[in-house]
Amino acid sequence: MLERLEGLEKDALAALEAVQDSAALAAWKTACLGRSSPLATFMGDLGSLPAEQRPQAGKRGNEIKRALESALAAREETLKAADLERSLQSEKLDVTLPGRPVRRGRLHPSSQVLRRIYTVWADMGFQIYRSRNVELDEYNFTLLNIPPHHPARDMWDTFYGTDPGVLLRTHTSPGQIHAMREYAPEPVRVILPGMCFRYEQITARSEIQFHQVEGLAVGPGITFANLKGTLADFARRMWGGNVRTQFRADHFPFTEPSLEMDIECFLCGGKGCTVCKYSGWLEILGAGMVHPTVLKNGGYDPKTVSGFAFGMGPERIAMLRHGIEDIRNFWGNDLRFLEQF
Ligand code: PHE
Repeated sequence: MLERLEGLEKDALAALEAVQDSAALAAWKTACLGRSSPLATFMGDLGSLPAEQRPQAGKRGNEIKRALESALAAREETLKAADLERSLQSEKLDVTLPGRPVRRGRLHPSSQVLRRIYTVWADMGFQIYRSRNVELDEYNFTLLNIPPHHPARDMWDTFYGTDPGVLLRTHTSPGQIHAMREYAPEPVRVILPGMCFRYEQITARSEIQFHQVEGLAVGPGITFANLKGTLADFARRMWGGNVRTQFRADHFPFTEPSLEMDIECFLCGGKGCTVCKYSGWLEILGAGMVHPTVLKNGGYDPKTVSGFAFGMGPERIAMLRHGIEDIRNFWGNDLRFLEQF
């Protein structure tokens, strides 16, 4: 009888050794300590033993029950500790691993040239004046001496809003009116950088959106010689003392007289190529003396002050600087292009 009891303890402890997880542990508990376990059955049957054996058998049965219970508790502890150890191992953080590289961005080639242009003009005493991209027809055309139905409007076809008279500016020149109206009758000397929009067929030389940097100087005694000298000086500061420039007569409704300044084509050295349209020269800017009507529209008296204005395209200038052959690269967002600058 008692041997059966001892064997039962041995088997139970051996089975406990093999238990590896909490599910198996619960199963073991039911099997060895549950209501229908051999031990419980044995204790239930005590009454059928001869009276003199009963006290000893009962005492031993209770001892075994306590022994199994404390073995269970100990096993539970061991499994918990093993669990913790496992998660510590698998979630270990290796602080000696190298970091992930951070990709460094860079300035867009247009921004780089814009900043260069700002620096040059700032050195020459021009402030930056910001004006809006969405304009009124009145500022973009009429106040610049381009009345409705004037054929010059064809040159600047653009994107019109649904509200009558609202459009995306076709050039930065409407900013001249905003700046003059803010400063008149005081002298003004500003550059007006910003995005412009035109409804154009997109080719290697023209895009539907591009930057311009406008310039405006108004004050007493400003002459055409001042304009030419200032532009030539700008070209030398921008491209170096040896740069060749040429001025050509031109026409803009808001300047009189008007001119265009070219610099020698960097790509072909003046021999002629696709970028310079086989002329050897690259058109850099349009300019002229501010038309008296425009001065009046800006709030100045054309009898006492005069001024000059100019407008240039930084994307074209970036093309010059870097030998870029196609203006469409600027807004194509191809990193292989952008990462070269
Ligand atoms: N606004 C003109 C253009 O877009 C350029 C220009 C500016 C010409 C200022 C003269 C004076 O072509």
